[in-house]
Amino acid sequence: MAAVSLAQRVVRWQKQHGRNDLPWQNTRDVYRVWLSEVMLQQTQVASALGYFERFVRRLPTLRDLSAATEDEVLGLWSGLGYYSRARNLHRCAQRVVNLHGGEFPTTAAQLADLPGIGRSTAAAIASICFGERVAILDANAQRVVTRVLGFGDDLALVANERRLWAAAHELLPRRNLLHNMPRFTQGMMDLGATLCLARQPQCSRCPLVADCVAHHQGAQLSFPNKTRTLRRSASVMWLLLARSPDGSLWLRRRPAPGVWGGLYCLPWFDSREELLDVLPKGRRRHTRDIEAFKHVLTHKDLYLHPVQVELPRRLHDPAGGQWFAQQAWQSLGLPAPVRCLLSQLVSQPYDVVG
Ligand code: ADE
Repeated sequence: MAAVSLAQRVVRWQKQHGRNDLPWQNTRDVYRVWLSEVMLQQTQVASALGYFERFVRRLPTLRDLSAATEDEVLGLWSGLGYYSRARNLHRCAQRVVNLHGGEFPTTAAQLADLPGIGRSTAAAIASICFGERVAILDANAQRVVTRVLGFGDDLALVANERRLWAAAHELLPRRNLLHNMPRFTQGMMDLGATLCLARQPQCSRCPLVADCVAHHQGAQLSFPNKTRTLRRSASVMWLLLARSPDGSLWLRRRPAPGVWGGLYCLPWFDSREELLDVLPKGRRRHTRDIEAFKHVLTHKDLYLHPVQVELPRRLHDPAGGQWFAQQAWQSLGLPAPVRCLLSQLVSQPYDVVG
């Protein structure tokens, strides 16, 4: 091990080369840090930026968020995906207001009890905001730690994962925690996101290269070792894009939990026949098939087949849906591919980021 501790090298590197001017940084405002960490759980920084700015402009404080409707929160999240994050965010805000007097708890252990805050997110918030000496292990940090230590045990086994958490804890800074912990946490994330890349690690620029077991073995791509792989599935959805002459849209809420849970969606069917079945007989010959497209989710490929038809607004509810005037549906939480489809087909596209 070199003279300067590994932790100290991460801290110094972060100061010089890491990301230091993102809109949720240079603050210990837990609301902003928490919101950013939840957004960044499954979204890259570049994609989250616009959503973050818009979210805090509309809901600048925890109390604003707790008082918002779920529909408004889902609307602000619309396009980011993984919508259970938005529902948990909302529930978490209400829990903190109702049970903690509007102040977030200050330890990772307490934070991890709140909805939508897992062990790594809790550690990120507590170390960044309160300087707690606690390790993160999101996918980026996991890559850095397993490579540096040459930790090759299969992380599909809980016992091995537990040992990795313990090993990550040993790497943490030991002094001046209020200063060093936020930088160390951010440094591990930044290293994983910019140098310790999954397929093309940039070892020559890494501050940890002298200590890195994986580098010395020339075996970077063997870490982390996780044998369990996601099994992907595929399904087909026929989507009814029914509009009335005044521009209203017919939408139906998706059940939660499940794909797009809680979001409003074009009414969906397993087949073209089932879709046509809900239309008045006279309209069935006046539909237009829109070119089918594939939408990729984490665990599933969706093959979407939109069918367009014009219907009178007085027509009610054969598919369990509801009419929304144009002004109303544009601000609802809609799945990204549905919003994208609508913006192509309906006048006045709606910018999900801006
Ligand atoms: N991923 C999760 N949290 C992050 C953060 N604070 N900065 C960059 N990427 C992250």
